Amino acid sequence: NKVVLAYSGGLDTSAIIPWLKENYDCEVVAFAADVGQGDEELEGLKEKAIASGASECYIVDLKEEFVSEYIYPTLTTGAIYEGEYLLGTSMARPVIAKAQVEVARKVGADALCHGCTGKGNDQVRFEGTFASLAPDLHVIAPWREWDMVSREDLLAYLAERNIKTTASATKIYSRDANAWHISHEGGELEDPWQEPTKQIWTMTVDPEDAPDQAERVTLSFEEGRLTKVNDEALSPYQALVKLNTIAAAHGVGRIDIVENRLVGMKSRGCYETPGGTVMVAAYKALETMVLDKASLKYREQIGLEYSHVMYDGRWFTPLNDALLAGAASFAKRVTGDIVVKLYKGQATVTQRRSPNSLYSEDFATFGADDVYDQSHAEGFIRLFSLSSRIEALKKQQQ
Ligand code: ARG
Ligand code: SIN
Repeated sequence: NKVVLAYSGGLDTSAIIPWLKENYDCEVVAFAADVGQGDEELEGLKEKAIASGASECYIVDLKEEFVSEYIYPTLTTGAIYEGEYLLGTSMARPVIAKAQVEVARKVGADALCHGCTGKGNDQVRFEGTFASLAPDLHVIAPWREWDMVSREDLLAYLAERNIKTTASATKIYSRDANAWHISHEGGELEDPWQEPTKQIWTMTVDPEDAPDQAERVTLSFEEGRLTKVNDEALSPYQALVKLNTIAAAHGVGRIDIVENRLVGMKSRGCYETPGGTVMVAAYKALETMVLDKASLKYREQIGLEYSHVMYDGRWFTPLNDALLAGAASFAKRVTGDIVVKLYKGQATVTQRRSPNSLYSEDFATFGADDVYDQSHAEGFIRLFSLSSRIEALKKQQQ
């Protein structure tokens, strides 16, 4: 028996290793994904996993794949969950779970394991991916099985087995970080009437402490993909890293929301998505230059639908593919440059240009023009409102 565990090095997944060996009489292979969460989390991970009892530990670099194959396509749909959440944790789950399945195949495992609780979205996202890619493998979710409930329980469990850990009994927040964002839940945030304290935020400067001088950043897109930041050609991951640095310094990308989890309860969370916030603002601004009214409306509908597909962990489904195909068709036109001004937490689009622009100064001007005959509007409006006229005339005759 061999299990591949999605391992983070944190207290929960450290306790899972001995627990699996005792309760499933199996070999445990640890798997960790590098999705740009930062070197602190990844440092010494292999040694830690082995010390906890894993037979091996695979660390897979998914940074470019994550940005290029998951974030960029999602960007083209315009998806924003419940109007605010830029889906950072949601987008990372399918790419992680897919790589975990690949490791399981490589080592000939018969089961997959994760450290998500039974109350959240992440369990659904992991297991939804497992169901699509590896329906034959068993799934083990310890948090839904064991009777440990607190960090004290987990620490005691490890201590009884002489497994060393650097984890402390008090860890206030539940955080999840990757190249796109960091999420914060728990602690005082569980009270929605409590303002987030300063210690919650880790990725961005407090907007109140941000520079008094605004900074402008230019984003260049080609067929819906970000290719340059301030005229520098960069890989998808490198472009995101650069945008994060620039935007975080101005306190851009913080939100504090209450959201509906898929499993029914509401949860309160704070999120920091500095580079992503700038990217989304720029992308939407460029779309407004190149998409006609009906196309933009339909793209907005794709975005609403897709925000739920992504949030609910339904990446490997036919609906996912259909929505992405639709969005990709619009994205072919999204080429051009956008300038975003960053100032004390705000990201404001100030300049836009595109070779595919439908914007015409000749037509739009409030000054004199010789391309548009205003008298044509009269007939258009009469027909456009004809059904209203007929109904109103009928009422008058009654
Ligand atoms: N509520 C967010 C989501 O569902 C963030 C979840 C954070 N996950 C975590 N394991 N800390 O996407
Ligand atoms: C968890 O419960 O494991 C984290 C939060 C979530 O998945 O929504």
